[in-house]
Amino acid sequence: MTMRSLAAGVLMVLMLVAGAAHAVLGDVKFQREEGGGDAAGSTPPAVFPHWKHRIQYKCYVCHPAIFQMKAGANDITMEQILAGKFCGTCHNGKQAWAVGFDTCPKCHVDE
Ligand code: HEC
Ligand code: HEC
Ligand code: HEC
Repeated sequence: MTMRSLAAGVLMVLMLVAGAAHAVLGDVKFQREEGGGDAAGSTPPAVFPHWKHRIQYKCYVCHPAIFQMKAGANDITMEQILAGKFCGTCHNGKQAWAVGFDTCPKCHVDE
C-alpha cells in the first residue's frame, strides 16, 4: 500500500466516523452566484438536510421566523450565522453543535 492510498483510506475512515454525509434526495443544496470570492471558492456550498430537521422541529420553528420558505430566498453568510442568525440560531453549542473548524464539513459537503 502506498502512503497516498493509506492516507486516502485513513481520511475515508475519519469521514465515516465523523458522519460526513453526502447529499441525499430532499436535502437543500444551496446555490451561489458566480464569483463569490476566494474564500467562497475554496469551500463547497452548504447542504441542508431538510428532512432530518423536519423530524425534530415543527415547520413554524423555522418558517418564516428564521428562513423564508422558498429556495434561494435567504441570503445567508457565515458572518450572520456566527452572529446567531439562520443556522446559527441553533448551531451555537446549545440546541445543536456549534460552528467551528471541526464542523465546517458537516454543512459544506464536498461531493
Ligand atoms: C451549520 C452549518 C454551517 C457550518 C458549520 C459552516 N457553514 Fe459556512 N455556510 C453555511 C450556509 C448555509 C452558507 C450559505 C450557503 C453557501 O454559500 O454555501 C454558508 C456560507 C459559507 C461561505 C460563503 C459565504 C460567506 O459567508 O463567505 C463560506 C466561505 C463558508 N460558509 C465557509 C465556512 C467555513 C470555513 C466553516 C467552518 C469554520 C463553515 N462555513 C461552517 C452553513 C455552515
Ligand atoms: C430547521 C429549520 C427548518 C425546518 C424545521 C423546516 N424547514 Fe423548510 N427550509 C429550511 C431551509 C434552510 C430551507 C432552504 C431555504 C433557502 O433555500 O434559502 C427550507 C426550504 C423549504 C421550502 C422551499 C423548497 C423549495 O424547493 O422551494 C419549503 C416548501 C419548505 N422548506 C417547507 C417546510 C415544511 C413544510 C416544513 C415542516 C414539515 C419545514 N420546511 C421545516 C429550514 C427548515
Ligand atoms: C431550529 C434549530 C436548527 C436550525 C435553524 C438549524 N439546525 Fe441543523 N440541526 C439542529 C439539530 C438539533 C441537529 C441535531 C444535532 C445533533 O444531533 O447533535 C441538527 C443537525 C444538523 C446536521 C447534521 C445532520 C446529521 O446528519 O446528523 C447538519 C448538516 C445541519 N444540522 C445543518 C444545518 C444547516 C446548514 C442549517 C442552516 C441552513 C441548520 N442546520 C439550521 C438544529 C437546527
